[in-house]
Amino acid sequence: MTADGGDDPQAPVRVGVLGCGTVGGALISILDEGADEVAARTGIRLEVTRVAVRNVARYRLPTLGSDRLTHDAHSVVCDPDVDVVVELIGGIEPARTLLVEAMRAGKPVVSANKELLANVGNELLAEAERAGVDLLYEAAVAGAIPLVRPLTESLAGERILRVMGIVNGTTNFVLTRMSEDGIGYGEALAEAQRLGYAERDPSADVEGYDAAAKAAIIAGIAFNADVVAGDVYREGITGIDPSDIEFAHRLGYEVKLLAVAERAGGSAARPVVAVRVHPAMVPRDHPLAGVRGSYNAVFIEGEASGELMLYGRGAGGRPTASAVLGDLVDAAHNLRAGGRGRAAPRARSEIRPIDELETQYYLTIDVEDRPGVLAAVATVFGGHRVSIRSMEQVGLGGEARLVFITHTALEADIQATISELALLESVERVGKLIRVIGPDPDAASGRAT
Ligand SMILES: NC(=O)c1ccc[n+]([C@@H]2O[C@H](COP(=O)([O-])OP(=O)(O)OC[C@H]3O[C@@H](n4cnc5c(N)ncnc54)[C@H](OP(=O)(O)O)[C@@H]3O)[C@@H](O)[C@H]2O)c1
Repeated sequence: MTADGGDDPQAPVRVGVLGCGTVGGALISILDEGADEVAARTGIRLEVTRVAVRNVARYRLPTLGSDRLTHDAHSVVCDPDVDVVVELIGGIEPARTLLVEAMRAGKPVVSANKELLANVGNELLAEAERAGVDLLYEAAVAGAIPLVRPLTESLAGERILRVMGIVNGTTNFVLTRMSEDGIGYGEALAEAQRLGYAERDPSADVEGYDAAAKAAIIAGIAFNADVVAGDVYREGITGIDPSDIEFAHRLGYEVKLLAVAERAGGSAARPVVAVRVHPAMVPRDHPLAGVRGSYNAVFIEGEASGELMLYGRGAGGRPTASAVLGDLVDAAHNLRAGGRGRAAPRARSEIRPIDELETQYYLTIDVEDRPGVLAAVATVFGGHRVSIRSMEQVGLGGEARLVFITHTALEADIQATISELALLESVERVGKLIRVIGPDPDAASGRAT
């Protein structure tokens, strides 16, 4: 079969792979070893005909000889013996230029590149539409977990209200070790690095950048909205202290780094979307609280469907290659049928500012341990309309730590509270603010946040 549909339904669909690292290498070995099985299951025979890497001299796979390898990615995209292009290089350039080139040549493309999709996804989707080809990216969000297809196909008729995900395995591993073994952040991170879950420079994970890119893609899919990584409010896990986790346990919560995308109003043509990444206290009976170690999960709330959760491996060579392979089979089917899958253009969207978030909050304040201090602190909360749900005091020598959980309050009000508290003479330190998920038990409305 050829890119124009050819006559022979048994002919292989020829795949050009850009990148042969963790994911590319796994994909090529799965296809080199298992193409017969894939063909038997799907009716599509996939054959990797060309592979581009940066350094061709480096040994990769026993099956990968110089007949298929090149350092010239452009030559793979243009090769008439390539029907479908898979981009597994990462980063924005040259990935973006190569994919545009492939689509303009009428070739469907598959990518696992979250950075690319979260920054220029809409531009690439428009290019795919103009060219009449598929641009598929199931692996870009949560590795092996199917999310793009469930949201855009199985739930195509559903009005999605909110998607909350644990989409970064590194931070979930660190938080799980802190939670289950009582160790500090530094020790847990060092272990993640030793085990290969965290990079030597872990900032993309621990500062929430990786999760923010995924949150933008999730918001785009869930609300058919044009959301980019820069729209996502972002906080990482670096300020989390073991004592925060201890308090969370006492109060019935686990601390998780969540990516949250919410419908916040507007219309289908111009949705208002709230999208953020931050550590959160998740009630222990919530399905996301039980997601341990480097696993990922995405919890979807739909108007008619109710709650759904997808769980699995969010990264790793073979899990991610499995999602890429699913896209490849889809793209090959569509190519053979002479068309492309459904992909509606994204609507221009409005992003709700974080100041307008309404939720409950956990906050610690270290104060001088003397009479009158607690009253002064409570007055500041009250002055900004932040009502206290619970307060605990722990002695710290001459100081005391006050641990608050608030009722549902406006983000702008809690931030104003923090700013004023920091100015009080008796306040030594304001700790990490952690947003609290779940119902506000004592609120008049009892509403969930
Ligand atoms: N790893 C995961 O678990 C995972 C999970 C989900 C999504 N992803 C995404 O999948 C993509 C690939 O990730 P990875 O972990 O496989 O990366 P990787 O191990 O760093 O591999 C990147 C590959 O791209 C090649 N490359 C880089 N620049 C190139 C260029 N200009 N021309 C040709 N080849 C070039 C590299 O060649 P050399 O080998 O010669 O340097 C290498 O083979 C990224 O977008 C990543 O975000 C990865």
